[in-house]
Amino acid sequence: MKRAIGLLTIAVAAASATSMARTPAYKDTSIPLEQRVEDALSRMTTQEKINLIHAQSKFSSRGVPRLGIPDLWTDDGPHGVRPDVLWDEWDQAGQTNDSCVAFPALTCLAATWNPATSYLYGFSLGEEARYRGKDVILGPGVNIYRTPVNGRNFEYMGEDPYLAAKMVVPYIKGLQSNGVAACVKHFALNNNEVNRHTTNVIIDDRTLYEIYLPAFKAAVQEGGAWSIMGAYNLYRDEHLCHNSRMLNDILKKEWGFDGAVISDWGGTHDTKQAITNGLDLEFGSWTNGLSTGASNAYDSYYMARPYFNLISKGEYSTKELDDKVRRVLRLIMRTAMDHSKGEGSLCSEEHYEAARRIGNEGIVLLRNEGRVLPINPTKGKRILVVGENAIKMMTVGGGSSSLKVQHEISPLDGIREAAKNLGMDVEYARGYVGDVSGEYNGVVTGQNLKDDRSPAELIAEAVAKAKEADHVIFVGGLNKSSGQDCEDSDRAGLEPPYGQDDVIVALAKANPGLTVVNISGNAVAMPWADMVPSIVQAWFLGSEAGNSIADILFGKVNPSGKLPFTFPVRLADSPAHKLNAYPGTKRADSNIVDLEYKEGILVGYRWHDTKKIKPQFAFGHGLSYTDFKFGKATADKTLISEGETVTFTVPVTNTGSMAGAEVIQLYVSDPKCTVPRPVKELKGFSKVFLQPGETKEVKISIGRDALSYFDAENHEWVAEPGQFTASFGPSSDNIATTVKFTLK
Ligand code: GLC
Repeated sequence: MKRAIGLLTIAVAAASATSMARTPAYKDTSIPLEQRVEDALSRMTTQEKINLIHAQSKFSSRGVPRLGIPDLWTDDGPHGVRPDVLWDEWDQAGQTNDSCVAFPALTCLAATWNPATSYLYGFSLGEEARYRGKDVILGPGVNIYRTPVNGRNFEYMGEDPYLAAKMVVPYIKGLQSNGVAACVKHFALNNNEVNRHTTNVIIDDRTLYEIYLPAFKAAVQEGGAWSIMGAYNLYRDEHLCHNSRMLNDILKKEWGFDGAVISDWGGTHDTKQAITNGLDLEFGSWTNGLSTGASNAYDSYYMARPYFNLISKGEYSTKELDDKVRRVLRLIMRTAMDHSKGEGSLCSEEHYEAARRIGNEGIVLLRNEGRVLPINPTKGKRILVVGENAIKMMTVGGGSSSLKVQHEISPLDGIREAAKNLGMDVEYARGYVGDVSGEYNGVVTGQNLKDDRSPAELIAEAVAKAKEADHVIFVGGLNKSSGQDCEDSDRAGLEPPYGQDDVIVALAKANPGLTVVNISGNAVAMPWADMVPSIVQAWFLGSEAGNSIADILFGKVNPSGKLPFTFPVRLADSPAHKLNAYPGTKRADSNIVDLEYKEGILVGYRWHDTKKIKPQFAFGHGLSYTDFKFGKATADKTLISEGETVTFTVPVTNTGSMAGAEVIQLYVSDPKCTVPRPVKELKGFSKVFLQPGETKEVKISIGRDALSYFDAENHEWVAEPGQFTASFGPSSDNIATTVKFTLK
């Protein structure tokens, strides 16, 4: 008997030990996420809930140590994984294990017009972030390019909501497939940097829904973004990090967003608004978002002790708190607690190949008169490279997207390497001196760009060498310095800085074989465009910059990029500037700057088409080294009823002698409508790769939503019966074929 009791005791002990060791529900990945969230929530104290919804360091927020729920680690940025900073400092921590691959800026990605490339981008970045132990990448940015002077346009995806929406979704899917959350930013209406913390945007609903929300809506509903970053500015007098209409009504109710709203760093300003207006995770309070900040202020964050006290006093229940905690728990369980997503990788060959490929596919050939490009050694073997942007590192600076790279191939180095393989020699002349500095938050370029020569001496040297060269390549444009393409600043004008125009004109006169390579994330004025036979728009291309530029210049890769935004001839041709709708008007009684988006839906090419203002280079423009011919477009039906789709077929032929890719763009026009509409709007595109002589029948389908405008009065999308025109071409200003069809 005793033995039996003994055995029973052991069995009971073993059973209870097992039950103790059995995985608690919130950790059991075999049960649905929502049940895990509820189980975790039910075990947490109010203090533990408060700890979860605000930062504990510059880039991390607390988990629940007692329950084994891990801290959440965020990091910038959209183009690569930022180096670790000290716990409570903006300066980098000086680690030697956090150099990364810098992928091209998102304007370049948008310029590829290739969703598959966007997936590759997000996936590669996600592997780097996963390896670095980051749960949230603070990107991508999809703020619409409303003005060419906005300092952060290089981090975004251009002027058209349809293009941005189609290109942001695969990036998010690729990134999140690694168990790393996207944090799509800056939601919303953060379309310039000057007065970024105080600008109150005034905008009508139709413009908001047709232009500024679609990319964010796609990110949430198609991309399944796990987090969204609130913007710094205001809308309807409420800061976007706690904005009832934008976060509660639109993001969470209308779109069904189940993730976490993360504040921009320093974007939270009020506890009660933060509680009720949709903020879930507060970062960077008491900082300027970039450099300075109150030290270790985490307990005094708006959603820290002040919130806890309000609950303790009974002014608030834990109703709002529990919703925030559910969203943050979901974010943690989708990332830090999902151990099925592998370990990622850092600085792998695949990532460098991806960076180079994205750059190759995004570079835009703007002009190529007389086939100056690709560089042909039979026309002579002497190459002269001119310009500070041929040597200056661009991965350091520009604000929070600044990186510490393992390497960055400069344009000059890339050109030298390619020329060597062709038996060509390369000379260099500075041409101009711009910004010789090279440091951001403790990351230094190590370059010494100092040059005390005068502009006249620099131009004289460049011209003298140009006269002796067979090919001249000027590499200029903007850089990542304040007042250029840089966070927290806008440019003062459209002109390239540092007297580059004089250098370009002098070189054009000295040598007919001139190519200008413009490196920027924004349009620049090109008054010399007709004097320069070939012009290339090369973006901030990251670690493989020089290789991508050389691949294109020497014809190893046939350019296929298309502009994701308009290049106006002059700033005044841009709607925001033409209508004096930038940067806004400061209120007499506060620091708020009211900025009315007076141009409404007429942003970018919508404005240029409708107002018949010819741009320097149009949205969607981009040439190739080969030629393409569009055949006649046809439709599978020319009478469609509500809910039906129409499929167009457009034959495209490569009539040249080099393989290449063309982007067939579909623009829809609604010539007779009860409300004013733009002349045409992008509603479809397809990138096709064609061998010489090859023809493909490109098919693009559209439905009702491609025909609709937003009826703000009734808060609904309306497609009015009547005739529509579908226009197809390689650019918004080059329509090759059209089809008319009728909506019943
Ligand atoms: C910055 C930026 C934001 C960035 C964050 C953290 O101020 O606005 O894009 O992710 O703060 O660096």
